[in-house]
Amino acid sequence: MIGIIGAMEEEVASLKEAMEIQEMAEYASMNFCKGTLCGKDVVIVKSGIGKVNAAVCAQVLVDKYEVDILINTGVAGSLDASIDIGDIVISTDAVQHDVDATTFGDPVGQVPNMDVFAFPADQTLVEKAKAANEKVNPEIQTFVGRVASGDQFVADQKVKDRIVNHFGALCTEMEGASIAHAAYLNKVSCVIIRAISDKADNSAQMDYPDFERRAIKQNVRVVKELLTTL
Ligand code: ADE
Repeated sequence: MIGIIGAMEEEVASLKEAMEIQEMAEYASMNFCKGTLCGKDVVIVKSGIGKVNAAVCAQVLVDKYEVDILINTGVAGSLDASIDIGDIVISTDAVQHDVDATTFGDPVGQVPNMDVFAFPADQTLVEKAKAANEKVNPEIQTFVGRVASGDQFVADQKVKDRIVNHFGALCTEMEGASIAHAAYLNKVSCVIIRAISDKADNSAQMDYPDFERRAIKQNVRVVKELLTTL
């Protein structure tokens, strides 16, 4: 079973429209939509925004649906000048940029007592997602690298610079690393696929509504193509 998590209704609506729905269920105030999409057994769900919502959602998918793959789709702010609005970032790993236990000697972003700094994506899923995007969205660039997540919409150059300097991440959003963290704890495969909706700086608020729609369309195409290869 494959779990697909999007934070916002817009992010999951088109995927849900395309799927054959078998069953709806509510857990943790979230609506889980089970069925088939592109010939695969999937559960599609809107988690709500932020790391806690996303982690709770991932755990329900593991416990109630026994998913072995978690795909997180959505939009993100670019952290690199070469990554444009509309481009796609696929995670190699993900870190929580708002974790700070430096007082105890941990680097910024390190969850204390965890044996990893950044939560890894599944290598095969990464490669398949990259190939899928190159096939269905040839007009945009595909980037593969680190995702930095935190409970902040980043729309300030100074905040952006801090995240860039600490983590060398390609994009920032508000759920991916917590889903990767939950996947790591449960030993299930995971990948984050994010379309860039803004530059995570002072222009972010202005860019965001216009580009979100376009970014989501590209995401839906790549997720559907990826499913056909799993
Ligand atoms: N999702 C899309 N853009 C974002 C940003 N700039 N910061 C956090 N999450 C985002």
